[in-house]
Amino acid sequence: MEKVIGIDLGTFNSCVAVVEGGTPIVIANRGGYKTTPSMVAITEAGKRLVGHIAKRQAVTNAENTVYAAKRLIGRKFDSAQVQNAIGNAPYRIVEGPHNDPRIQLRGKVYSVPEISAMILQEMKMIAEDYLGQEVMKAVVTVPAYFNDGQRQATKDAGAIAGLDVIRIINEPTAASLAYGFGKNIDRTIAVYDLGGGTFDISIMEISSAGVFKVISTAGDTFLGGEDFDQRIIDWLVQDFQRENDIDLRQDRMALQRLKDAAEKAKCELSSVVETEVNLPFIISSARNEALHLQKLLTRGQLEELTADLVERTVQICEMTLDEAGLDKEDIEDVVLVGGMTRMPRVQQAVASFFEREPCKGVHPDEVVALGAAIQGAALVDDEHDMVLLDVTPHTLGIMVVGGYFEELIPQNSTVPISRSKIFTTVRENQTAVKILVMQGESRRADENELLGEFILTGLRRAAAGQVEIEVTFEINADGIVSVHAKDLETGKEQSITVTSTSGLTDQELDDMMTDARDYAVTMRADEEHEKAKQEAQTLIAEIEKLFPKVEEVVAGSDFGRDAIEKARAVVERAQQLMESGQTDALREQIDALARTQRMFKGVVGKIA
Ligand SMILES: Nc1ncnc2c1ncn2[C@@H]1O[C@H](COP(=O)(O)OP(=O)(O)OP(=O)(O)O)[C@@H](O)[C@H]1O
Ligand SMILES: [Mg+2]
Repeated sequence: MEKVIGIDLGTFNSCVAVVEGGTPIVIANRGGYKTTPSMVAITEAGKRLVGHIAKRQAVTNAENTVYAAKRLIGRKFDSAQVQNAIGNAPYRIVEGPHNDPRIQLRGKVYSVPEISAMILQEMKMIAEDYLGQEVMKAVVTVPAYFNDGQRQATKDAGAIAGLDVIRIINEPTAASLAYGFGKNIDRTIAVYDLGGGTFDISIMEISSAGVFKVISTAGDTFLGGEDFDQRIIDWLVQDFQRENDIDLRQDRMALQRLKDAAEKAKCELSSVVETEVNLPFIISSARNEALHLQKLLTRGQLEELTADLVERTVQICEMTLDEAGLDKEDIEDVVLVGGMTRMPRVQQAVASFFEREPCKGVHPDEVVALGAAIQGAALVDDEHDMVLLDVTPHTLGIMVVGGYFEELIPQNSTVPISRSKIFTTVRENQTAVKILVMQGESRRADENELLGEFILTGLRRAAAGQVEIEVTFEINADGIVSVHAKDLETGKEQSITVTSTSGLTDQELDDMMTDARDYAVTMRADEEHEKAKQEAQTLIAEIEKLFPKVEEVVAGSDFGRDAIEKARAVVERAQQLMESGQTDALREQIDALARTQRMFKGVVGKIA
């Protein structure tokens, strides 16, 4: 049966799961870890590293190591968020051809979906290794608050990775699926997800009939663990700057070490009440002395430094509850998701807001991927009776006369959905209208985000207000928006799938897909070669060990000398093939090595 994997493509960690024999399970990577850092690096030799190996070399190769690409995906280059990332990231973010951020690594420029695709490709391979079969389909999760452009770009990343992303689902919704799976309960729950980069809160209703309905959702795509880390970094460098007049953040290597140390301290403070940050030789002074950074950080201090961040999540919870038209008492369980919910202060804040202890028993790092896998299995297998009713996180509409925003689909509407409204022309003999598709909550159009635009032409000439145009918005189950406009008299229609203005063109996507495919092939070949090399090495080592003895025994005869010479040639040839990367030839040579080894053993065995 065809397998669909569920991938939680996180800002900091990604996780892959699958349903096997009716049970959702998380698949560990080769190192045995159930989550894989969402990091990509290019080494000096041009080799691509993904996951833990990329993370381990981040300090020494900071400029060419990408993390938190999810914070950039589907955003415009000139957005405040991207500009802010440019200031903080140790890698180079440059402007792409569509006002999109791109990442430069060792002279090559990559689109953000391409970087995310490398991570997805890695997750795909982890699953394939485990399942022993090729995997083509996936359900990928995104923060509930992701907008159309971000969803589309995530889908693009899937396509580049060679995955058919059969559904995009929201992370908190996925978490609720995993929470409710097989439980047969009717319950209203809150899912509080504070990860590395984003915060999401969803209020959901689960019914024993298998309906998972989101009532309201909200979040902040720029609020997560990294902001907590940043507070620690800023605090660490302040005194240092005062004493030494050096801003450590200006040094890429120092910054990377600070980031590591800050995160480590933060995580430690979830289990102990104080920790020492110790960074010897963090930088050298103008007089070339080595300078060190050493500071004690207490849990209380950390809580103080980040109090407003925690408070902000609570405010968003309150807002969401309000929108759902519910009171705290109506929430029967609170599910915590995301690594940051290990911080005691976060747990306390949530418990005190909802006035109940959060549910134990779901794993904050795995629950999202598990939910995605459950949804994936349900989509290809009719036996699963499960209905997922998600909502759109943003209000969608168009700009109308006077710069106002006219709403078509309100926030928190259940998707899929389609809504139409009729508009009229504003000028006499107006033959074209430009439709600006926007999302946001402001009455003023320019305060909302432009998703896309198109022009409906060839309208009948008539007095102002006489030509009627029907505009229809549709949101599909992936949360992706399409819009069409129709001249009601002539029936003339225009439609677009709203890809954000920073989306990739089809040609670009095609090229990137080809690149990624080639890479998947060469990488598999690399691995094959690596394996063959190791086998050959083992055999050569054994042969080398036996040489002296064999020589002792047989060197007296021509036949013996000949055999030894041949054996030397076999070893040398194998060594050449190991170097030159010819895997097939090396495989054949391994047979020759094995024969030689057997022969040697035979000879030595005789004298023993
Ligand atoms: N014990 C801990 N105490 C505090 N924070 C922790 C702990 N363990 C992990 N974290 C933090 O959790 C964050 C990562 O969480 P997670 O893996 O859920 O994020 P993500 O899923 O990659 O991000 P997102 O869901 O926002 O895209 C990091 O900031 C990490 O430092
Ligand atoms: Mg997450």
